Amino acid sequence: MAHDVVLIPGDGIGPEITTAMRRVVDASGAQIVWHVAEAGAAQIECVGTPLPPETLELVRELGVAIKGPVTTPVGTGFRSVNVALRQAFDLYACVRPCRSLPGDGSRFRDVDLVIVRENTEDLYAGIEFAPDAPEVAELARLVEASGQRPFRAGSAISVKPISEEGSRRIVTYAFEYARAHCRRKVTAVHKANIMKATDGLFLRVAREVAALYPDIAFEDKIVDACCMGLVQDPTRFDVLVLPNLYGDIVSDLCAGLVGGLGMAPGANIGADCAVFEATHGSAPDIAGRDLANPTAEILSAAMMLDHLGETEAAARVRAAVTATLAEGTSVTADVRLAQTGSAEGAVGTAAFANAVITHLA
Ligand code: NAI
Repeated sequence: MAHDVVLIPGDGIGPEITTAMRRVVDASGAQIVWHVAEAGAAQIECVGTPLPPETLELVRELGVAIKGPVTTPVGTGFRSVNVALRQAFDLYACVRPCRSLPGDGSRFRDVDLVIVRENTEDLYAGIEFAPDAPEVAELARLVEASGQRPFRAGSAISVKPISEEGSRRIVTYAFEYARAHCRRKVTAVHKANIMKATDGLFLRVAREVAALYPDIAFEDKIVDACCMGLVQDPTRFDVLVLPNLYGDIVSDLCAGLVGGLGMAPGANIGADCAVFEATHGSAPDIAGRDLANPTAEILSAAMMLDHLGETEAAARVRAAVTATLAEGTSVTADVRLAQTGSAEGAVGTAAFANAVITHLA
């Protein structure tokens, strides 16, 4: 059966890595009809927004998209395309599996954990006030009237909303994911000892949800201790569920445990829509030079194939990537550098994809 998928190449290294990914998926046996749609910095000049309405409509209509990274222009007032997509389709769960790959250049072996990050709330809700905003004075009055310690005059304020509903659905997602993928433990990560209202709510809900899944072990960890535990022995962890900000930081930390950003796939999942993409950004420093590692994007496509029910094709893609890395003769500069301390002998983005396709065959 053929599947309709929106392909957003993005900008920077996006077009190179999505071309590599598409060639690998087309060679995997899965029947994908690609609907290419634009997003990114170039669209600002053409249509005045990095995320054209036609792209949004297509994603809404087809419900599945895979994208390359998109540069977020600094200081222009344009919202990040990723944040806009997450909000438009309520993509509340960001799922990032981190698994050791052969020759990934990491000092850790046998890492196999999954980050489940809440994607819609927390300090990323975008509720912010500059120091001179009139709302800040009003907030100061409210804080004082509530008997809490006033904040310094001239402070900028970001609001951290954490809701019972948002916490329940992300923790439930993490436990359902654990069950579906035969995982044994869920760790809820928080800072409830300091942020008793917000993280305290997240932790209380996590404990309530955990009680409904007696077949899966549950623990909670304070985020700083969790980071130390992850770099001491990541094999102690299985599924981690985190509010938005900690999830953002800890998922990059975990990408570092398995060879870096070029190796870490991801998915943003909502009730009606799913958008798959590598963890990394548009890497302007290496864009257009056939240097980027497409592994993360190809493994994101494997997650998409699983989502579409093409589990055999997904497994073949993962096996071909693993075999290519294990062989070690056709790896990109970032991997070669991590392995040997020098990029000499590395191949380009397209040649890496060719090697993966050879292993598929
Ligand atoms: P980045 O992830 O683009 O780059 C960080 C470093 O990792 C760079 O040295 C880069 O060359 C390297 N790198 C990243 N991906 C690589 C790959 N596949 N192969 C080899 N090396 C790779 O992060 P940075 O520089 O902070 O962000 C650049 C732009 O990307 C910004 O505008 C940012 O807003 C945007 N961004 C977009 C994301 C998305 O669309 N999903 C996610 C993160 C950042």
